[in-house]
Amino acid sequence: MVDVYEAVTSRRAVRGFLGREVPRETLERVLTAASWAPSGSNIQPWNIFVVTGEPLAELKKRATGRVADGVLWDDREYVMYPPAMKSPYRDRRSAFGNERYSALGIAREDWEARQRAAIANWDCFGAPAALFCYIDRDLGLAQWADLGMYLQSVMLLLRAEGLHSCPQMAWSQVHHTVAEIVSPPAELMLFCGMSIGYEDVGVDYIRTGRAPLDDTVTFIDG
Ligand SMILES: Cc1cc2nc3c(=O)[nH]c(=O)nc-3n(C[C@H](O)[C@H](O)[C@H](O)COP(=O)(O)O)c2cc1C
Repeated sequence: MVDVYEAVTSRRAVRGFLGREVPRETLERVLTAASWAPSGSNIQPWNIFVVTGEPLAELKKRATGRVADGVLWDDREYVMYPPAMKSPYRDRRSAFGNERYSALGIAREDWEARQRAAIANWDCFGAPAALFCYIDRDLGLAQWADLGMYLQSVMLLLRAEGLHSCPQMAWSQVHHTVAEIVSPPAELMLFCGMSIGYEDVGVDYIRTGRAPLDDTVTFIDG
């Protein structure tokens, strides 16, 4: 069994999965344990839809097909990033973009290739399972933070099962297509999807770095 440090440090956004099926019991075990994630006043604001098999194949077909047909994004339901992000966030974001696209051999100005790379999101990078995390429209910032704690718990527990994941806000860009498959109640808004599966170790990647501890943590200890 992986320990917590190993689960945290071995989790990464995997973007190449094997087709190997993920057993339903495994997903149930992970999601049952993840429900112990904390939330303010224990309101447990996560609403999760797990999609596998034929429904997922249909969703991938519809979502990737939209791009091919030129029907791009749905109306945005929330702001993913502020339009003018200041330093250091803007720099970190562009460093990530450069790293990711150079790993794929895509030039900065090659928008078509970037688009193709983005489309891989809607194929779940080949993963055979996905979950979609919704939140009630009436809830606020603090409850969105609860979702993050829940989703990280899911991703760490997946590591304990030998599985990997990729959290994907990209799904929120095609939320109407996701809704066609999962039929969420109207009061729910899609935050993100998450691809889940066994890693295809043949797919190259660059491990994303992190800012040094001093850049993000201040100890005040006299
Ligand atoms: C809320 C959230 C949404 C994300 N959305 C996407 C996405 O749509 N597509 C994608 O390929 N990666 C997505 N990522 C993965 C991040 O790019 C990744 O976590 C970050 O670059 C750090 O890399 P690492 O997770 O591999 O350590 C998302 C991550 C989070 C937490």
